[in-house]
Amino acid sequence: MKPINIGLMGVGTVGGGTATVLKRNAEEISRRAGREIRLFMAANRDLARAREVVGDGVPLVDDAFQVVNHPEVDIVVELIGGDTIAKELVLKAIDNGKHVVTANKKLLAMHGNEIFARAQEKGVMVAFEAAVAGGIPIIKALREGLSANRIEWLAGIINGTSNFILSEMREKGADFADVLKEAQRLGYAEADPTFDVEGHDAGHKLTIMAAIAFGIPMNFDNCYLEGISQLEGKDIQYAEELGYRVKLLGLTRRTDKGVELRVHPTLIPEDQLIANVNGVMNAVLVRGDAIGQALFNGPGAGALPTASAVVADIVDVARLLTSDPEHRVPHLAFQPDRLQNLPILPMGEVVSSYYLRIQAADRAGVMADITRLLAENNISIEALIQKGSATDGSAEIVILTHRVVEKSANKAIAAIEALDSVAGKVVRLRMEELNG
Ligand code: NDP
Ligand code: HSE
Repeated sequence: MKPINIGLMGVGTVGGGTATVLKRNAEEISRRAGREIRLFMAANRDLARAREVVGDGVPLVDDAFQVVNHPEVDIVVELIGGDTIAKELVLKAIDNGKHVVTANKKLLAMHGNEIFARAQEKGVMVAFEAAVAGGIPIIKALREGLSANRIEWLAGIINGTSNFILSEMREKGADFADVLKEAQRLGYAEADPTFDVEGHDAGHKLTIMAAIAFGIPMNFDNCYLEGISQLEGKDIQYAEELGYRVKLLGLTRRTDKGVELRVHPTLIPEDQLIANVNGVMNAVLVRGDAIGQALFNGPGAGALPTASAVVADIVDVARLLTSDPEHRVPHLAFQPDRLQNLPILPMGEVVSSYYLRIQAADRAGVMADITRLLAENNISIEALIQKGSATDGSAEIVILTHRVVEKSANKAIAAIEALDSVAGKVVRLRMEELNG
C-alpha cells in the first residue's frame, strides 16, 4: 500500500520529538497503521536546526504554506503553536482536503468551533490528542473509552510547567523564577510562559475537555482563569498543616444551572491520588455516572511524551483515512448537530469550599466578629487555626469553610476586609474534596 506522507510544520520541542519517534519506531508504527508512515517534508523557520533533527533525506522549507499546498502531503502536522500563522495554515490545509494533527490547544480552544465546522464540511479529520495533558491519552478516553457515561465533572492538573514549579518550590524550597527557567530549558513551557503560570494554558485544555465531556462548543472566553504567580509559600505550608496540597487545578462540572469552567490554585486533600501528582506529571480525574471516578496520569509535557500523542493521532488518521467521514468518531465526541449550548456559570454562581487567611488584630472579640460575618452569609466553618502573634500585635487566622456559593463567600470576605481589626486583603483559595 502507498505510504502515508506526513508534512511537519514546526521542528521545535514537539516537532523534533515527533520526527524522532517516527524514525525510531517506524517499523512498530507501520505494523500498527498497516502501511508505512513517512516524514515526507518539514517546515521550520530555522532550517539549520531542523536539519540536525530530521536528517538529510527529508526536504526542508522555511515557508510552511509549501507543506499545506503540497499535493503529495496526506497529513499535515501543525507544531508551530499560537493562533496566528498556525490558524491560517490549518484552515488552508483543511481547504486543501488534508487531514490535520495538532498539539495546539490555544488554537483549538479559541478557534476550534470554526476549525471543526470547516473540517466537517470538507470531510477531513483534525486530531488533537497532544493538545491536552501531553502524553496521556485523555482525549481518546473521554471521546471513546467513556462514551457510555454521562460525565458529571472532571478535574485535572493539566499544566506541567505550573505543577513542576509548585512541586520544586514545595519539595526543595526552590525559587519561582529559577524553576520557571528550568521548565523552559526542559521544553515544558509555552513560548510565552505567562500562559503557563497565569492559567491560560490550563484554561485552553480545560475548554477542550469540557467540550468533549459534555458535548458543548468551545467556550474559552467564559473560562475563569487564576494562575500560580500570586501564590504565597506560607499558604502552601498552612494548607499542608491542615492536610491539603495546593495544585493548579482545571475543573469543569455540569450543574442544573450550567457548566462550571474554572482554573485556579486549589487545596486538595493529601490522601487523594491526584494531590500526589508531582513535577511535570499531569493527571485528570473524571467522574462518570457509570464508571464512577477514574484517574488518568502521565507526563504532561516534553518532547517525547507529547510526540507519543502526536504519533498516535497520525496512526489513527492513517487507519481511518479511507473510511466514510460519517463513520468516524466526531471531533468533539458528540454528533455536531447534537451539541448543546449550555451556559457557562459566572464565578459568583460556582459552589466550592474555601481556605481563607486573614491578618487580624490579636485581641478579644476579633474572632467573634469574623465568625459572625461568616455565619451571616451562611458559611459554615470546617476548621480554624490561629497562627502565632506577630510583634505588631496581629495574628494570622486561617479558616477552612464548608461548601458555599461563591457570591456568599465574596460578600463575607468584603465584610471581613472592612473590619477595623483586619489588615489588608483576605487571601482566598478554593478547596475541592474531589470525592463525589
Ligand atoms: P517550539 O517553540 O519548541 O517549536 C515551534 C517551532 O515552530 C520552532 O522550531 C519554530 O522555529 C517553528 N516556527 C515558528 N513559526 C514558524 C513558521 N511561521 N513557519 C515554520 N516554522 C515556524 O514549541 P513546542 O514544540 O514546545 O510547541 C509546539 C506546539 O505544541 C504548541 O502549540 C504547544 O502549545 C504545543 N505543546 C507543547 C508541549 C511541550 O511540552 N512543549 C506539550 C503539548 C503541546 P524557530 O525556533 O526557528 O522560530
Ligand atoms: N506548556 C505546557 C505545559 C505544555 O507546561 O503543560 C504541555 O501542553
